[in-house]
Amino acid sequence: MSIEEVVNYQLHNIFPTSVYVGEMNGHVRHKEAFYNKIYPKYQFPRINADGDINTVSESEGKPIIHTEESAVPMMKEITEHIKIYYMEILGLRDVFDVYHTKSWISRSYNSDELVPEHLHSPSHISYAYYINAPEGSHAISFYDKKKGNELFQGVLDYYHEDDTFMDEYTFESTQKYSLHTKEGTICIFPSKTSHGTDSVSEVFSDERLAISGDCIITLKESERMKYSVGHINPKYWRRY
Ligand SMILES: [Fe+2]
Repeated sequence: MSIEEVVNYQLHNIFPTSVYVGEMNGHVRHKEAFYNKIYPKYQFPRINADGDINTVSESEGKPIIHTEESAVPMMKEITEHIKIYYMEILGLRDVFDVYHTKSWISRSYNSDELVPEHLHSPSHISYAYYINAPEGSHAISFYDKKKGNELFQGVLDYYHEDDTFMDEYTFESTQKYSLHTKEGTICIFPSKTSHGTDSVSEVFSDERLAISGDCIITLKESERMKYSVGHINPKYWRRY
């Protein structure tokens, strides 16, 4: 007899990390602009100086796609999604400007070309917009660093069958959550959330290509500077 048949209980999953996935209405137009006008200027070598596959262009010196004139319609739509994310999902007031600080290409051609676990400190909000996502291409995976349910360090880990306390992973105990990446969608999440990519099939054709980026939110110029946290408007920033 299972526990559920003899014991009544309720479960409350508290303090979530939320990942927003939205559809880019102008995807066809954005994709065309990217491949025709942006990609030729932002090409990067498949292999880096160490002989490893370059899965991102972030370290190739031009993580500034957001500064391109031809990227303006795409960046505007990305910004709309970001505002929906922090106002409708997180419930923040409409007192912020969204500053795009960095944007680059994430690219892979087969199941071995993965982006290892990483995070985007010190930004606030990060995104991945899937410009081209062939059938069977990688998922994006998020990792739980808060470990709210980890009773003691290592209790939820799995090394191999004989070296784990886990009977099965549940939503409450998993330390990794993977999402299928669909072309034309944008995935938005807190920059401090660890993430990477995971293979979902042995092979896929064509290239999996996403534009990844970081944003910082700052107080609108019209807002009084009465908050003890967060950035004030950059018009007041100085360097000496
Ligand atoms: Fe990333």
